Amino acid sequence: MDIESVKNATLFAGIDDEAIKALVDLMTPLTLRRGTELFHEGDSGDELYLVLSGKVKLGRTAPDGRENLLSVLGPGEMFGELMLFDPGVRSATATAVSETELLTLKHPNLVTWLGDHPHASLNLLKALAQRLRKTNDTVGDLVFSDVPGRVAKALMDLADRFGRPAADGVLVAHELTQEELAQLVGASRETVNKALADFAARGWLRLEARAVVLLDLDRMAARAR
Ligand code: CMP
Repeated sequence: MDIESVKNATLFAGIDDEAIKALVDLMTPLTLRRGTELFHEGDSGDELYLVLSGKVKLGRTAPDGRENLLSVLGPGEMFGELMLFDPGVRSATATAVSETELLTLKHPNLVTWLGDHPHASLNLLKALAQRLRKTNDTVGDLVFSDVPGRVAKALMDLADRFGRPAADGVLVAHELTQEELAQLVGASRETVNKALADFAARGWLRLEARAVVLLDLDRMAARAR
């Protein structure tokens, strides 16, 4: 398999092509259709996944059935590694939100490869540290920010990772329904819809099916603060 599509992954920063190829040769491609659940919170498993294209949502279900989204991951990002470092069960449910191509890797193969390429362990730690920072921010926002602020912040984060220039702004094809966007922000669909409608009325964004076009990035960034 061609390593060009994985070279930008955080895991491979600073790793030479030959070493990347050695690991990629141990990975198996997998394509998921939109809506396919890859694994469920509480499952066992010994694989981690690298996203090549598309998007995967990671969600958790509360005892009363309500769902919340921890994150939406896209190309170059990895998931399913927590069980490797802290054996137990899957801490979240992984579901494709668009057609998604993944590479799967058995944990023992990664461990052997990390032994030969210790620098890559630092890359993994960096990815985990970034995730912890982001989670801390999210917890702070749940306590200190209002829903429109959290919606603005979520859209700016999605724009950062998935945004593409459009004629009149930045197209963010997040692939999420409004219900899923609400689960990501930790608020009801009604409140999130109201915030989106308000941003649209002010001319800060335009709503599209499972996407938004951010028209005024400065105001959105200010609202996200
Ligand atoms: P694992 O517990 O094996 O399966 C679920 C995966 O979701 C987990 O590994 C992580 O890779 C990923 N995950 C868990 N929490 C978060 C988070 N807060 N942000 C992004 N990814 C997460």
